[in-house]
Amino acid sequence: MLSYQHIYHAGCLPDLHKHAALAALLELMAGKEKPLSFIETHAGRGYYDLNAPEAQKTGEAAQGIHRMLKENWFPPSHPFMRVLEQTHKTHGKNTYPGSAAIAQFFCRPDDKIHLMELHPGEVIHLRQQIMGTNIRITREDGYKAVLALAPPHPRRGVVFIDPSYEIKTEYADLPGIVEKLMRQWPVAVLMLWYPLLPARPHEAMVKALTALNIPKSGTFEVEFGPPPETGAGWKALYGSGLFVANAPYGFETALGAIAAALKDKSLKKE
Ligand SMILES: C[S@@+](CC[C@H](N)C(=O)[O-])C[C@H]1O[C@@H](n2cnc3c(N)ncnc32)[C@H](O)[C@@H]1O
Repeated sequence: MLSYQHIYHAGCLPDLHKHAALAALLELMAGKEKPLSFIETHAGRGYYDLNAPEAQKTGEAAQGIHRMLKENWFPPSHPFMRVLEQTHKTHGKNTYPGSAAIAQFFCRPDDKIHLMELHPGEVIHLRQQIMGTNIRITREDGYKAVLALAPPHPRRGVVFIDPSYEIKTEYADLPGIVEKLMRQWPVAVLMLWYPLLPARPHEAMVKALTALNIPKSGTFEVEFGPPPETGAGWKALYGSGLFVANAPYGFETALGAIAAALKDKSLKKE
């Protein structure tokens, strides 16, 4: 049974990285008339209540989204800021939009959204919060489900993989999953998130992903501060990474601007 719940971390610095990137990517993709498919393997819930005791407990939102808004890290025209503005209007100032809400914001009625989530409680929230005739939510293993779906209709589309890395073999298994996925669906625009931790568990995974030689692929990382000399586990997280493949024109520039906005923003003193 998986125990991870993203509500404890909603609005943290890595969230700002992945969610600003997702918003920029979907704005670029939806800027073209042709419909698209959006597939997310690890959807979490739609919206996160930052007043909830779980969110308050870690203080990660205080260090992330609350400071970002107070200190204007992003210009108001940034696609992520536009999602935040709408979220605050419809759900209140202390609500944070997850990836599923960001996808719903940018996708149009002809686009298809497939959201997979394994945690029974998270799926209930997701189904209550994210609804639409073009949205399909399933409680299943996102890795198996994306391979069963690919290539989807419409064929043009985005896969977002945002694992909680609770299972030790996930780093080792991911390159094989991505290889299969890209063989089945070579035009998929892929974005895979990974944490930067002092033990660098992502390193071998990124090396194997790079060796797949997928067109227009690369890693985009941001360090929120220097790697801590002591500390282990998620508490020692010091940065956030994205492996991107088949990146659309303009996305690399957008990722560079996002990394510049978030670099060295950690308040942690190690
Ligand atoms: C990092 S959170 C997702 C956050 C979400 N993508 C967002 O940005 O708002 C990871 C989620 O994946 C779920 N999960 C873990 N393993 C999974 C799997 N194999 N298939 C589907 N969901 C999984 C967890 O229950 C958790 O809700």
